[in-house]
Amino acid sequence: MTQQPITGKFITLEGVDGAGKTSHVQWVADTLRGRGVEVIETREPGGTSLGEALRQLLLREPMDIATETLLMFAARREHVTRVILPALQTGHWVVSDRFTDASYAYQGGGRGVALERLAFLEAWVHDGLQPDLTLVFDVPVEVARERLRKAGTPDRFESEDVAFFNRVRAAYQARARQDPGRVRIVDSSGTFEQARKSLEEIVSTI
Ligand code: TYD
Repeated sequence: MTQQPITGKFITLEGVDGAGKTSHVQWVADTLRGRGVEVIETREPGGTSLGEALRQLLLREPMDIATETLLMFAARREHVTRVILPALQTGHWVVSDRFTDASYAYQGGGRGVALERLAFLEAWVHDGLQPDLTLVFDVPVEVARERLRKAGTPDRFESEDVAFFNRVRAAYQARARQDPGRVRIVDSSGTFEQARKSLEEIVSTI
């Protein structure tokens, strides 16, 4: 799958629901475009027509934890092979609103799926591909929940309790500790402008 060389860069944005990640995705993409880079913006679960259909099920339909995990990775396989890799191989940069760190955080941390299982699926589905930079928007869970409360009808993940989101947050922080070169924490507990400033500093290094 990775025969052709990868010439673009792959950037992912992560964080607990309500951390403010989505409001920064567009800015990251536009900033890179301002440097003359061709950028594709995408998201997970989703990014392909099959992936978007799976997203509807994943966010709404009650299901077993293993089913949820496998569907996340099934959607990801389509995304990697049909969208992300072809883009990176033609020199485009890819900015994705979530990727596999979300599976470690939500299915691993939140739901308790064993890390070895996630690592096996990751190796199979990615076929060696990893993001060049992952931005984790980090915020205390109480702050995130307050932001979410104003955002409308919660989906299946957003309806989880504080303990679930504390585990998700801790799992993201653990990912950043384990791979500090790739995974960078953006403190989102302050104002939007403060988060934007630390984001600017990190993005200027890539
Ligand atoms: P999200 O980016 O929060 O969508 P929106 O901003 O439109 O609400 O993503 C949807 C949800 O999917 C989010 O609650 C996290 C969850 N998710 C996982 O549990 N595992 C994964 O691997 C991915 C990619 C997402």
